[in-house]
Amino acid sequence: MLNLVPEISKRRTFAIISHPDAGKTTLTEKLLLYGGAIRLAGSVKARKAQKHAVSDWMEIEKQRGISVTSSVLQFDYDGYRVNILDTPGHQDFSEDTYRTLMAADSAVMLIDVAKGVEDQTKKLFQVCKQRGIPVFTFVNKLDRYGRNPFELMEELEKVLGIRAYPMNWPIGIDGNYKGVYIRKQAKIELFERSGEHGQWALPSTQGSVDDPAFKELLGEEIHQALCDDIALLDVAGEKFDFDKVTRGELTPMFFGSAMTNFGVRLFLEDFLEMAPPPVPRMSSEGFINPDNDKFSAFVFKIQANMNPAHRDRLAFMRICSGKFERGMTVYHVQSKKPIKLAQPQQFLAQERTIIDEAYPGDIIGLFDPGIFGIGDTLCQEGSVFTFQDFPVFPPEQFARIQAKDTMKRKQFVKGMTQLTQEGAVQVFHQPNYPVESFVVGVVGSLQFEVLEYRLKHEYGVDILMNKLPYSIARWLIGKNFDGKAMKNMDSGLLVQDIKDRPVALISNEWQLRWVVERNPEVEFLVVPEDAQQV
Ligand code: G4P
Repeated sequence: MLNLVPEISKRRTFAIISHPDAGKTTLTEKLLLYGGAIRLAGSVKARKAQKHAVSDWMEIEKQRGISVTSSVLQFDYDGYRVNILDTPGHQDFSEDTYRTLMAADSAVMLIDVAKGVEDQTKKLFQVCKQRGIPVFTFVNKLDRYGRNPFELMEELEKVLGIRAYPMNWPIGIDGNYKGVYIRKQAKIELFERSGEHGQWALPSTQGSVDDPAFKELLGEEIHQALCDDIALLDVAGEKFDFDKVTRGELTPMFFGSAMTNFGVRLFLEDFLEMAPPPVPRMSSEGFINPDNDKFSAFVFKIQANMNPAHRDRLAFMRICSGKFERGMTVYHVQSKKPIKLAQPQQFLAQERTIIDEAYPGDIIGLFDPGIFGIGDTLCQEGSVFTFQDFPVFPPEQFARIQAKDTMKRKQFVKGMTQLTQEGAVQVFHQPNYPVESFVVGVVGSLQFEVLEYRLKHEYGVDILMNKLPYSIARWLIGKNFDGKAMKNMDSGLLVQDIKDRPVALISNEWQLRWVVERNPEVEFLVVPEDAQQV
């Protein structure tokens, strides 16, 4: 029997969730810097090319032969094996961003100290909460003016419904913080100012809060303000309770600056110590423990290769139990076929490397000959089950698409069918619509562009796309109800999903309330009945 526990317990697989510009690229890079995976900050920054129009994005895909949106960064730090899952943000925010969270055991929520909780962070946080993924908060850009830390704690509670436990506390005056107070050790760490973008690890001085040298260094006033804040946190603040963190009721909160490296090492060390190692995953046979010696994994993302010379797809899977060995044969439950895992890939920064072995918590990429679907299970013969279905993420943007050339109808339908199965978009149809067309729903607009690009390049079909003015989809159920007798749907659209279930597309919350009111006999579901709600 294999003893997998030592490998499992050192793994930390997490995603960073944030709103664009909060500093995710910078923080990721600094974690790699401290983890020794890169020597000088600046190399991941090349990925800033991500802030670009979709055409550049395709160009990058082509050059690298791999998606910039789908990498996982792995490094070792202090006995831990760290896997950072990259959650696509910016314009490439899509269902993939949500799906990546399915593969994570915890999440780091990055917040800009001046902006607080922003829109995309809110959405991603909700997914973590529903999935029971513990969230750790890093308040970034403390080298600049920002909101008061107490105010931010309050905002987390009000907007996200989660209480915060500050693990450290900024010392000094807003915009000119000198360091942090580490609550667990009742210690102060002061950072040297560096005029640079923190290309190297930042030197610091540590000591006890009572040390008169610090009082002198900080000045009487700042020292006293710090002591008052600490007293207030200790008396009026939440007590640290790790069970609450795992239940998603409490978030450990850190303050720092990814750019100047202030507080980054502290965060990394505390986070790695607290974050959970791979946890059991629910399946059709009950919970599957990571130390179960039979290999199992699920597919959480499928990425098409944009390089026409390599028209392959990569399926990303997260290992849930057992040990992966190169060349092993596993069983793909959905196609009922054995598959040899011959050329698995792992990703570090921009390079692909072939791996020989991997453990629960690790992510591997496989060339997909077109058989995998999102949420598929791989396991070993003799222990066959399926992991829990992936949730459906409610689409927020819609468009009607049809082939420009009606002669290309066959390829168009084939392409749409395959891309839907792959999870690139959600598809609806409108019965009795005169032209062969689909209504597609997406989470982020990049999905539309990728769809258009792939239909053209992989299936040779040019499409006409008309954006539709809806932002909400609701699955409808009711007694003897087929959607036709809905009242006040003049400004909405009734469609059917791929299983022919009626769905109402509605322009905004206000309209939705109106339609719901006028149709008391109908239930409006955020996701289909057989899907899990997010
Ligand atoms: P993202 O991936 O979340 O979108 O954010 P990214 O790291 O690209 O950072 C967005 C901007 O915020 C960058 O500025 C970055 O330098 C800055 N930033 C990140 N962390 C900090 C921090 O701790 N303090 C301050 N003051 N700024 C920070 P930019 O002007 O867009 O790019 P650059 O010219 O600095 O490279």
